[in-house]
Amino acid sequence: MTTLHAPDRLRIAIPKGLLYDDSVALLASAGAALAVDPGRKLVIDSADGRSELLMLRPTDVPAYVEFGAADCGIVGKDVLWETERHVSELADLAFGRCRLVVAARRADRYHEGAQLPTFLRVATKFTASAEAYFAERDLPAQIIPLHGSVELAPLVGLADLIVDLVATGNTLREHDLVVVDEIATSTARFVVNPVRFRAKYDSLTGLLARLEAAARERACA
Ligand code: PRP
Repeated sequence: MTTLHAPDRLRIAIPKGLLYDDSVALLASAGAALAVDPGRKLVIDSADGRSELLMLRPTDVPAYVEFGAADCGIVGKDVLWETERHVSELADLAFGRCRLVVAARRADRYHEGAQLPTFLRVATKFTASAEAYFAERDLPAQIIPLHGSVELAPLVGLADLIVDLVATGNTLREHDLVVVDEIATSTARFVVNPVRFRAKYDSLTGLLARLEAAARERACA
């Protein structure tokens, strides 16, 4: 592991979790395959020795990129909606598609137009997106920040609604919850540190072009 940035060596932030497998596969197609299985390692060289990959929690990717600890990274748009970190988004990599939705108990019939409570309680991991959504609609809402298992909140009376991501829809179905409204669609994005982009222009634009080509190829497959 190097601690200083060589001029043409890239440090790339990778999100663990749902985007991990596709991120690693796309990077491999773009010439930055992992040298070995990382196991529990947090830093690993690429097979060609030209990059170093950082294994991060998805929500931590923007901080590593903003502060230049990573030159660039892959992160879900859903994470970018919620962060104030300054990173430049250069490409939509078109995988990891999911929807940010407002959902409720089927029995409450809000999806069929039943009157919402005048003062809503909304449980979510996506507090900024939820606040913006309800403010735009002039709906007074108390946002209750949670860190996971958000689907439980309406079932036990913590919240009237949830704002959460839906990919397959299985989690909503399993809890007899339904989509009331769709807020936005998220996919994986390639982000860079704007200063590093200028300093490592050739390496970063090269990686960007190869990632975009690999993403297009996957989309056509
Ligand atoms: C996400 C999201 C939903 C679920 C949706 O949770 O918050 O709970 O995935 O996926 P599905 O539509 O394919 O069922 P995650 O797996 O990140 O776990 P968490 O609830 O602990 O945050």
